[in-house]
Amino acid sequence: MWVFGYGSLIWKVDFPYEEKQIGYIKGFSRRFWQGSTDHRGVPGKPGRVVTLVEDPEGCVWGVAYKLPTGREQEVKRYLDHREKGGYRAMAVAFHPRQPLAAPLSDQTLLYIGSRDNPDYLGPAPLEEIANQIVGSTGPSGQNTEYLFQLADAVRSILPEDHDAHLFRLETLVRQRLEDDGSPKSS
Ligand code: SIN
Repeated sequence: MWVFGYGSLIWKVDFPYEEKQIGYIKGFSRRFWQGSTDHRGVPGKPGRVVTLVEDPEGCVWGVAYKLPTGREQEVKRYLDHREKGGYRAMAVAFHPRQPLAAPLSDQTLLYIGSRDNPDYLGPAPLEEIANQIVGSTGPSGQNTEYLFQLADAVRSILPEDHDAHLFRLETLVRQRLEDDGSPKSS
């Protein structure tokens, strides 16, 4: 069983796996359109985390993990629990970066927050999303940490992914933090 991560599953790997492969899926784009009330926000004041939206031209890079043989269901149960805030598992075709790598089946799982889940927030102007990220914290920590870790990981391990939405948000949030820290003129 293989699981594809495109968000925190890229940089917060707190589960066992047997093997991993870098690669991409087609037909989706990554967006900060999922609300988080259990990790990066709280009920009534959700943070924003990534989900995938259908996009015929889209391509999302990430990391696929092979769950340990014989422990697939145990680890999948852990991931289901970790991703319980509105995500559901679905199967997709995964394309490894190295085409000569052993081909994976079309049954690679990923976690998606589709628009019918109760925590789904949907699109908003990037400035609004940036403000919400700056102002949100939840049991797993600050929403800004989630954004920065993801942007750093994509830049360093998935340089093929030119995710304008992610990097524009990173810039906006860093600007807001700098503005908040700078002395105010009277
Ligand atoms: C993922 O990382 O693949 C799902 C979204 C998240 O947990 O950030």
